[in-house]
Amino acid sequence: MADLCVRAPAKINLHLEVLGLRPDGFHELAMVMQSIDLADTLRLRPTADGQISLQCDRSDLPTDGSNLIVKAGEMLRARSGFSELGAEIVLEKRIPIGAGLAGGSSNGAAALVGLNTLWGLGFRSQELHSMAAELGSDMPFCLDGGTQLCFGRGERLEALPPNADESPALLLVKHPAVSVSTPWAYGLCKQLRGDFYLESEADFEQRRQALRQAPLLQAIMGKAAWPPLRNDLQGVVEPEVETVRQALDLLRQAEHTLAVAMSGSGPSLFALFTSLVQARCAHEALAERLAQGGFEAWCCGFSDRGVSLIP
Ligand code: C5P
Repeated sequence: MADLCVRAPAKINLHLEVLGLRPDGFHELAMVMQSIDLADTLRLRPTADGQISLQCDRSDLPTDGSNLIVKAGEMLRARSGFSELGAEIVLEKRIPIGAGLAGGSSNGAAALVGLNTLWGLGFRSQELHSMAAELGSDMPFCLDGGTQLCFGRGERLEALPPNADESPALLLVKHPAVSVSTPWAYGLCKQLRGDFYLESEADFEQRRQALRQAPLLQAIMGKAAWPPLRNDLQGVVEPEVETVRQALDLLRQAEHTLAVAMSGSGPSLFALFTSLVQARCAHEALAERLAQGGFEAWCCGFSDRGVSLIP
């Protein structure tokens, strides 16, 4: 069996609305997620010793059984019934860690797709989706990626048409020393906003329907101007994390932005521009102030796909 390479792109949230609480304790969400051209790479080599080993070029990332790559491999192998299956996996990490960009989830989704091929298991897309949903809320989206409406915990997906010919580009900013724990952000949201959560399925569905018809979707398709972006977690994280406030301040100073928002539970922030050229100009104009604040920044485009095998 030959070695295999899989590309695992990051995502941003173009919309994140917390609707209420689910019986399983998770939050009921209405989101628009968008894959972007910032990606990790997994290199997979098969072994027959029943071991799934992971190495990474970032020493601060756990590579033990807590990593979603290893969890995904173990789940896939258990479901296959072939306990001797093993793999040596090398992860080239480019997506910032703990950033709200679904780096870990995308890695896990890439492991599902890559190992399914490497081990010749033949699990179908639907089966991979259900394993992904068990492993993490953002993982099902990461499988197909592109632009999708994501409901439920994030696993109920409705794909949107591919972006307009001239899809926007973004300037993404994160402080390398700051990460936000997703459970902490949702916990704080519940504490501060729980009294205002919707409670009935009918109310949830009304919000889903509103999102399906929102001006944001017209903007994504290049048919309308960009409205302000909504991320309910931004409202609770921004007051607590100074670097989030600083980065938002900086991005709001950039010229020609279409919108500025936090991604997921943060702390990464992004500004949208009509083109990569404009995103790079904004990056250049802000470079000194970003460096003074200790921020890292990336310019990239939207991507129309999730994890993919690299030929
Ligand atoms: O599914 P995932 O591992 O990404 O979720 C991490 C944590 O984020 C959950 O344990 C939960 O505290 C919170 N969460 C939530 N509602 C969601 C997704 C995540 O409350 N829809």
